[in-house]
Amino acid sequence: MLDKELLEEFAELKKRNDAVVLAHYYVEDDAQDLADYVGDSYFLAQKAASIDCKTLVFAGVEFMAESAKLLSPNKRVLMPEPTADCPMAHMLRKETIDEAREQYGDDLAVACYVNSTNQMKAWSDVCVTSANALRIVERLPQKNVLFIPDQHLGHYIQQQVPSKNIILNDGFCPTHEAIDVAEIRLLMQEYPGAAVCVHPECPSWVLDVADYVGSTSGIIERCVTGSESDYIIGTVYGVLHEIERRVAAAGDAGKKHFHFPATTPICPNMRRVTGQKVVACLRDLSGEVFVDQSTAEGARRALTRMLELAV
Ligand code: 13P
Ligand code: SF4
Repeated sequence: MLDKELLEEFAELKKRNDAVVLAHYYVEDDAQDLADYVGDSYFLAQKAASIDCKTLVFAGVEFMAESAKLLSPNKRVLMPEPTADCPMAHMLRKETIDEAREQYGDDLAVACYVNSTNQMKAWSDVCVTSANALRIVERLPQKNVLFIPDQHLGHYIQQQVPSKNIILNDGFCPTHEAIDVAEIRLLMQEYPGAAVCVHPECPSWVLDVADYVGSTSGIIERCVTGSESDYIIGTVYGVLHEIERRVAAAGDAGKKHFHFPATTPICPNMRRVTGQKVVACLRDLSGEVFVDQSTAEGARRALTRMLELAV
C-alpha cells in the first residue's frame, strides 16, 4: 500500500505528463491499484492502440510494453521495471519457421503468440493472444499453421480447431509449465464442487482436468460470475487481486473461495513490477521503450492484423 504523500505525487506526475497507466493482472497488487486499466494481454494491446495520451506507463513485461509502443508509436512508453522480460518470448529458432515455410509454401501461416520478441512477430503473419487465438486461427485462409512460441497454447488450439494442421514449436512458460496436475487433483478432492479454471499456457494434462480454459480475463470472469462457491485456479496468483475486488463489488465477499496449487504460481518477472516503481518511472521518466526499427514495421503489421481479425 502506498502512502498518501506518494499517491498525491503520483496524481500530480500523471497530470503533468499526460499519462495513462496500463497494468497486467500478474503484476504486484499495488501496481494494479495505480492503473487506469488492468487487463489481459489482448485488452491492454487494444487500449494501447486506442487511448489518447502523451505517456503510457506499462506495468508488465517487455513484450507487452514493446507491443504498446508499436501500436502507438507517437507516445512515450515507460516500463516501471525495464528488466522484466518473459523467458518464453525468446524460445524459437528461426530454422523452425524456415523449415515450415519450405515444406508448406503458400499454404502456411505463422501465428505468433504476443509473448514473443519483435523479431519473431516480424517473421510471422499474424499475432494472437490467449483471448483471441482460437478465433484468429479459425479465420486464417491457410490450412497449415505454425504456432510459435508456446507449445501448450498451440496444442490447445490443435485440439479445438481440428480443421487446421497446427504445427508446434517447443516454447513454454516456466510458471504455467510448473502447475502440477497432482496438486490440482488434491484440491479437487478437497473441494469436490469446485470449478477448475486454467490458462491455456498450462500443459495439456492440466487442461484435461479443467472445467474452464481461458485467458486471465476469462478466468476472472468465470470466477466472478460462476454459481460455484469454490474455484481452483491454474494461472498466476496475481489474478486473485482483481477476482477479490470484483467479488466484493458484487456483494459476494466471503461467499466464494479461491484455491491455488500448493506451489503458488508466481511469475518472477511480473512480480518485480511494483507500485513504487510505477511512481518512480513517471518521476524520472525512466525505462522508456524504444523499438528496433529493423523489425518494427513487420511486428506492427502482425499485431495490427491481430486487432483486425479478432473482432
Ligand atoms: P493473457 O494476459 O493473454 O491471459 O496471458 C497471460 C500471460 O502469460 C501474459 O504473460
Ligand atoms: Fe511469460 Fe509466463 Fe510470466 Fe506470462 S507468466 S510473462 S508467459 S513467464
